[in-house]
Amino acid sequence: MKIGIIGCGVMGGAMARTIAVHHELLLFDHKRSNSDPLGREIGAKVCSSFAELAKESEVVILAVKPIHVESVADDLDPLLDKETLLLSILGGTALKTLRELFSKPTIFRLMPNLPLLCGKGVIGVVDDEGDSDEDKARVLACLKGLGSVSWLKESLMNGFAALTGSNPAFIYLIIEAMVEAGITMGFKADQAQELLLETIEGSIALLRHSKSSLAELRWQIASPGGTTIAGLNELEAHKVRHGITRGIVRTYERAEEMEE
Ligand SMILES: NC(=O)c1ccc[n+]([C@@H]2O[C@H](COP(=O)([O-])OP(=O)(O)OC[C@H]3O[C@@H](n4cnc5c(N)ncnc54)[C@H](OP(=O)(O)O)[C@@H]3O)[C@@H](O)[C@H]2O)c1
Repeated sequence: MKIGIIGCGVMGGAMARTIAVHHELLLFDHKRSNSDPLGREIGAKVCSSFAELAKESEVVILAVKPIHVESVADDLDPLLDKETLLLSILGGTALKTLRELFSKPTIFRLMPNLPLLCGKGVIGVVDDEGDSDEDKARVLACLKGLGSVSWLKESLMNGFAALTGSNPAFIYLIIEAMVEAGITMGFKADQAQELLLETIEGSIALLRHSKSSLAELRWQIASPGGTTIAGLNELEAHKVRHGITRGIVRTYERAEEMEE
């Protein structure tokens, strides 16, 4: 397939690297300094205008920030035809808004996350009853190699974005705090980080393998009056659980506010 990406920043660039392996890829960014190095690196064609990209692309992926979507739509919409698939990865931007901005193409709303850079992305796509099986198959073909794909109702999209799109940033913050605990106890940062990553990977593997719930696994590790329960109690005293829950829910609330 011929796929065009508009916006060669963090997420556009991340998707481009895998898409270029499976498809013919075209890139456009309003700054050639963003698109040229990427095009050279992955062997994609760099376009000089929306018109050049729109003319050749069967699928267009919109990867600009939500605040730029209206100005992009003013120039891009007249260039897209009915057969084009438009995939939007814009956070907090409803299908209804996208359909008001883009009159002709069939539009899909996606939410990717950055681990797609190493093929481990978690990608949500709004499942709209009007979409044909053929178009859905084309969307899946575009996303080949990027990670797992979940089809969901649009009402769940902002929650999905908080749980998966933003969440890697929260996870990195939590791991960073753990590394600093390691440094405090005398480990070098890289040594602490490696030990923690192995522990986290092992903990996930056990959770997937085990039939026990999260709480049961926690209780298997915490012996009565021991060290782990002392640490768990300290985390609860600092409201860490509440902070994490609120951080994710606040992310969702912010997306809902942006859609108002
Ligand atoms: N980053 C993530 O983890 C993530 C996750 C899920 C969804 N998203 C969504 O992905 C979209 C892009 O996010 P991002 O983090 O990749 O942002 P980003 O790094 O700022 O990338 C956007 C790119 O678009 C360029 N651009 C701005 N206006 C343009 C225009 N009129 N025409 C063409 N290119 C233009 C920007 O150039 P300059 O900045 O140099 O002006 C930049 O290179 C957002 O809507 C975001 O909600 C991101």
